[in-house]
Amino acid sequence: MTVLYNHNGELTIGNTNLKTLAQSFGTPTIVYDEMYIRQQMRRYHDAFQKTGIAYVLSYASKAFTCIQMVKLAAEENFDLDVVSIGELYTALEAGYDASRIHFHGNNKTKEEIQYALNSGIGYFVVDALDEIALIDQYASNAVDVLLRVNPGVEAHTHEFIQTGQEKSKFGLSIKYGLADQAVQQIKESQHLNLKGIHFHIGSQIEETTAMKETAKMVLKWLKESALEIELLNIGGGFSVRYIEGDHAFNIEKGIPEIVENIKSTCHDLNYPLPMISIEPGRSIVAEAGVTLYEVGSIKEIPNVNKYVSVDGGMSDHIRTALYDAKYQVKLVNRDEIADETVTISGKLCESGDILIHEAQLPKSVKRGDYLAILSTGAYHYSMASNYNQIQKPAVYFVKNGKAREVIKRQSLRQLIINDVK
Ligand code: LLP
Repeated sequence: MTVLYNHNGELTIGNTNLKTLAQSFGTPTIVYDEMYIRQQMRRYHDAFQKTGIAYVLSYASKAFTCIQMVKLAAEENFDLDVVSIGELYTALEAGYDASRIHFHGNNKTKEEIQYALNSGIGYFVVDALDEIALIDQYASNAVDVLLRVNPGVEAHTHEFIQTGQEKSKFGLSIKYGLADQAVQQIKESQHLNLKGIHFHIGSQIEETTAMKETAKMVLKWLKESALEIELLNIGGGFSVRYIEGDHAFNIEKGIPEIVENIKSTCHDLNYPLPMISIEPGRSIVAEAGVTLYEVGSIKEIPNVNKYVSVDGGMSDHIRTALYDAKYQVKLVNRDEIADETVTISGKLCESGDILIHEAQLPKSVKRGDYLAILSTGAYHYSMASNYNQIQKPAVYFVKNGKAREVIKRQSLRQLIINDVK
């Protein structure tokens, strides 16, 4: 995170003054340090390159996507994961090479499958038995697929965002034989080519044990099934720092650990080493982004609580309400000691519209001040809604002290554009 106070006591991101940005562009606005995003991508490349393994890096668009983000991913030599026709459309509109796009999702619609086939995407990640027949039916040429298996492994993370456990809606269970059935169906299909296997065991994974164990299990199953693959995709889920005390996944240490483990497992099993792929989202963009708000009403309930309200809320910041996620806040326009605990609330008509339950801010905070909530680069804009007909925020990338708009603030007109008069 590159959020620092400058010598004037004003908060900056990537050497760009956030007060000036808030004044020039209005609030709420999400600001990304572009170099931070690029550096995260480069750290993954470097870590893999050092292992000498054949690898592919892919960015999970769901964390944050827009045309400029897709272009950036292309410039940093990242493939792209999409989970909907909308994410695919965004990538194609950005001029992204379709053959480097992978299509995920547990319920791809017929329309999505046809659109993806016509666009010539790289591969589908098959996530249901009946999807195999559907892709086969619409394909007219050979089509590469990865099979998403459910390894039944739980990553230690928040219950709501686990995706690897047995009862998960994602993947085809190895233990219950669904993965074997899928392999058989793919073999019997006319057009599908099983390029590889995919798993994703959860989010905010700090250390490598769960991924290593899962990879081992999957490789054993592949060996027992006498199934050779070109690509093993071990998903995303690498952790980031939201608050002090959080640990970001150590890319330089963790990636080699995982890779070495896969290499030695393959060696022990006498199984041919596949190419390895990962698909991080959060760890690429979360800490690169901050959201700027203007302080409005301040309500002090004596001896109970102090609410500091901002001009956004759960429409652009749903993770606190949804996952009880924790965040840090900084006063943008003055560097003062944060000597008071307050609740930062949004402006939406809902009691649950809280951004930070126990935030540390200077006592002097008043209407008109600007706040920056840190680590809001992932799953914020992409999870934003128009609840209460609130417009979605603007998004800027800053680099070398200069800001460029990447998503315009939603206009009032856009709120009713689909309404029938
Ligand atoms: N690959 C697959 C198959 C996934 O399902 C996900 C995330 C990723 C990659 C990227 O994971 P990441 O590196 O971003 O952790 N809305 C929740 C997160 C849901 C993640 C869903 N899948 C949140 O705000 O925490």
